[in-house]
Amino acid sequence: MPRPADVPSESLHELARLARAARRKAHAPFSRFKVGAALRTRDGHVVTGCNVENASYGLTLCAERVAVFKAVSEGIKRFDAIAVVADSDRLTAPCGPCRQILWEFCGDIWVHMEDLHGHSLTRRMSELLPLPFDARNL
Ligand code: THU
Repeated sequence: MPRPADVPSESLHELARLARAARRKAHAPFSRFKVGAALRTRDGHVVTGCNVENASYGLTLCAERVAVFKAVSEGIKRFDAIAVVADSDRLTAPCGPCRQILWEFCGDIWVHMEDLHGHSLTRRMSELLPLPFDARNL
């Protein structure tokens, strides 16, 4: 799995700004926990996403997966970073299913987590999902 080039932290902060704007569109009437994501391609385009909940709860899509599926459905590939923004005391890291999807579609990208107060943490996908199961196993 190719690794993206190093990404300067100020550009990740800028990506988080777009995730924060996407978060405002979150449809989260059940949890009231709004999340925004901004997924950047290696040539600098950004596709955003927010969480979309529904009355059956289980069909909820997280912000990260909305961003990935929007991009893939538009034929967009080759990503280098995703920013995830939520309003929580603990920084919001992608959930398990999102880690699987991010790994399979985006590879070893940077994952930049930020809250509304500017606290942040940046990790590689390979740190969030060590020993993955993917197409190489099949
Ligand atoms: N959620 C996300 O959108 N991304 C995450 O990384 C964690 C959780 C959403 C799903 C649900 O709508 C709400 O946050 C509470 O779990």
